[in-house]
Amino acid sequence: MTDDEKAVPYGPVPAGIAGIGHHVPDRVIDNEYFEKYLDTSDEWIQQRTGIVQRRWLAEDEKPSDMFVAAAEMAMEDAGVRPEDVDLVVVGTASGDYLAPAVACVVQARLGLPKCGAFDIMAACSGFLYALATGASFIGTGRYRNVLAIGGDAMSRLIDQEDRSTAVLFGDGAGAVVLQPHEVCRRGLVEDYVLGADGEGVPLLLRPKGGAAEPMTEEILRNREHFIHMEGRKVYRFAAARMIWLLDWAMRDQDPEELGWMIPHQMNRRILEQATAHLGIPPNKVLHNIQKYGNTSAGSVPILLSEGYRKGLFEKDKFLVLGAFGAGLTWAGARIRW
Ligand code: UT7
Repeated sequence: MTDDEKAVPYGPVPAGIAGIGHHVPDRVIDNEYFEKYLDTSDEWIQQRTGIVQRRWLAEDEKPSDMFVAAAEMAMEDAGVRPEDVDLVVVGTASGDYLAPAVACVVQARLGLPKCGAFDIMAACSGFLYALATGASFIGTGRYRNVLAIGGDAMSRLIDQEDRSTAVLFGDGAGAVVLQPHEVCRRGLVEDYVLGADGEGVPLLLRPKGGAAEPMTEEILRNREHFIHMEGRKVYRFAAARMIWLLDWAMRDQDPEELGWMIPHQMNRRILEQATAHLGIPPNKVLHNIQKYGNTSAGSVPILLSEGYRKGLFEKDKFLVLGAFGAGLTWAGARIRW
């Protein structure tokens, strides 16, 4: 296998990241907010998760507000006009409507052409599923400017009376513009991996109110339309999968060329344990869970955008992006800057 073949497993045209953006709502929710009405404490939340505060949408804001703002920032960064975009993919579990896809809302609000627009439901792995999908469309040679967006409005899906989930999540979104790498000359999507284990569906889901058991007053009363999670089991899955993903991303790579790890922000302890296990120095790992909590599909692209804006990414070094979530799903990508 030549180096070129190794670098382009998904099609004849390698994709690059031409522009990056993100958006989080202004409304800050600190840990003390929960202390006022739940049996929890700032100390417990910080020790067990690393979260100090998170952002939630204001009542009059919608998830698409975040997706549109993140996409606009990415398009401006890429120097791409609305009329140039030929596909929009949104990885999310919390679009504006149960149906249709929020990608269609985003398309209309951004004034894009009548291009393809669809959502991907891969929970916290949603952005990396969208990135892999977008890179693959670029890879066919038929698409030139793909918007890949990831994010969630978790404040709208959690049971705010359930201390085991309410404190964990925040709202936010990020976006990239993908182009043929020969056009944008940066952010080469060198490789990606996607996976799922549907046996894990019961561990993290919104059990009722979907099409299997449509909404009833009883479901509402029992709060079964909100997220239910077996936290400890999801933690164990994520810790093991994180190690697997890092191992996948680093295989055959020179560790000296590792720029940054950009992992899903689920729990600070998981990340510290996994990276220590593989001997990755803590100063190579980006975090923002302390500021935003777990923003589900938003966490990886927000972190990517913040790292990019701080000027952290060095040419020819590689970034490792990794995520895991409900489904159970996981996804990784190696990006050569
Ligand atoms: O992106 C995918 C989304 N999934 C996740 O983010 C979940 C991953 N899992 C985790 O991050 C951790 O499992 C949690 C942070 C959710 C929980 O931490 P843990 O160390 O695994 O705690 P635990 O679930 O074993 O619970 C320990 C205790 C329990 O009390 P008892 O049974 O020992 O009396 C819980 O009821 O902590 C209790 N607890 C809380 N106490 C205070 C659970 N939530 C809270 C809370 N405040 N908010």
